[in-house]
Order: sequence, then structure tokens, then C-alpha cells
Amino acid sequence: MKKISSMPRVPITNRNYPVSLPHHVAVIMDGNGRWAIQQGLPRTAGHKKGVDTVRELVKYCRNHDIFYLTLFAFSSENWSRPQEEIRILTDLLCASIDTEARLLIENDIKLSVIGDLSPFPESLQQSIRRTSEQTQNNRSMILTIALNYGGQWDIHNACQAIARMVENGDLASTEITHQLIQSHLCTHDLPDPDLFIRTGGEIRISNFLLWQLAYTELFFTDTYWPDFDIDCFENALNDYAERQRRFGNIERQIKESA
Ligand code: IPE
Ligand code: IPE
Ligand code: MG
Repeated sequence: MKKISSMPRVPITNRNYPVSLPHHVAVIMDGNGRWAIQQGLPRTAGHKKGVDTVRELVKYCRNHDIFYLTLFAFSSENWSRPQEEIRILTDLLCASIDTEARLLIENDIKLSVIGDLSPFPESLQQSIRRTSEQTQNNRSMILTIALNYGGQWDIHNACQAIARMVENGDLASTEITHQLIQSHLCTHDLPDPDLFIRTGGEIRISNFLLWQLAYTELFFTDTYWPDFDIDCFENALNDYAERQRRFGNIERQIKESA
């Protein structure tokens, strides 16, 4: 395999993305449990195998200048799962962040974690803090992991913060703009995703980036996350490249502005 640290670095500014390549890909990594059951293994074996898929996808994005990759790893609704699965998942997250930190550092990838981390064990919070700090100045790619994240939680927090500003007399309600709301979401420093992928066969958003996906191209596949390899990802990228993003315009306008 080509060592990704030997790939040419593209500076964060002065990027000239081909329209056909997504700048930001967001993924619901689903189907780990069913993959494992299919193999006659405990569900958690699917989560473990899913980490390998994450690693390959990160390397691919880094190599191909997909600058933002956002992965949904644990939703605010996943707390209702069996305690034992949650414990194994959090241990796995902790171990993976620690072991993969080197890959991120060597390849100039910044780790950012979004979501309410306070209910997680201190060991996981510490791993996240350590790796986030070690990679905070990296500029070749931004990897965002959503943990105990929910789109409704994100919008709710933004509403509360803005309401406080109004209550304190620092803001008039007429000053609540689209941009102001966006700036209070925990993805405020990311562009909206261009391409959304959900593996595992379900055709739903499951409370992921509700605001941010407003104009994202959606791609659903039956493939379980542990089986989602680079061929599958390239299939999604090719599908994306065929789409015409109109953002409310008509086809002729898009062609004229191209
Ligand atoms: C996604 O796989 C991983 C998490 C939600 C943590 P699942 O665990 O949901 O796997 P399925 O959907 O039950 O197969
Ligand atoms: C969505 O998967 C959340 C993550 C992948 C982290 P779920 O498996 O929890 O989604 P539902 O419950 O089937 O909608
Ligand atoms: Mg699932």
C-alpha cells in the first residue's frame, strides 16, 4: 500500500476542488451488529471489524483530498442499547482513538469530536482530549467523530444559546439569521456535507446532522459497515459525480454557471 504520509500535501487554502469530488463526506456507519450475527459472532465483533473500515476510509480520503470526513459512531439514542454492548463499544472507542492517534499525527489529520461527551467514562474523555490536542494544528484533513450526538440535541443547544443572548438584551430577535443559527451548531467550523452515506440498508437519517444535511446528496447502500471497502466507497463517489446539484435552480442555470 502506498504510504499516505508520502502523498503530496495540499494546503488548506488555495484548494480547487473538482465539482465532481465531495469536499465533505458524512457517514452513518451502520450494520456492524448484523454483519457479526451473519458471521456467527457476537454483535461487538462487528464494531471491532468496523474500526478497520474506518481506518481504510480515512486513508483513502487523505490520499484523495477529501478534506472533511464526519463519522457517526454513537448516537444520543444508542444509550438504550444493552449495557454490555455500550461498555464494549466505549472501550473499543477508547482503544481505537489511542492506537490510531499515530496515523493521524503522521498524516497531518486533525481529530475533532462532536457531541455531549460528559456521560462517557473519564478514560474515553481523556483519550479524546489527548488526541484532539495532539492533532489540533494538523491541516491536511479534518476527521470529525460524532459521539453521543443527535441533530435535535445540536439544534436545541443552539436555540438555548441564542435565546439567552436575546434574554440578556444582547440580540434582537430580528438578528437571528440562518448564519447565526449555523454558528451555534457544533459543526460551526465545518462546511455542510456534500455527500452523505448510510451503510446497512436502512433508509433514514436517525437524528444525524439534521440542519446540515439540508442540501446534501444522499447515498444509501445495503452493504454492512464492516464490508464497506474502498470499491464500495468509490461506487458512492461515482454516484455522487453523476448528480446535478441544483440548490433550487433549474438545470439551464446550472449549465450556464458551470
Ligand atoms: C452501527 O452498527 C454502530 C453503532 C450504532 C454504534 P449497529 O450496531 O447499529 O449494527 P446493526 O444496525 O444492529 O446491524
Ligand atoms: C445510527 O445507527 C447511529 C450510528 C451509526 C452511530 P442506529 O443503528 O443506532 O440507527 P437506528 O436505530 O437503526 O435508526
Ligand atoms: Mg444499526
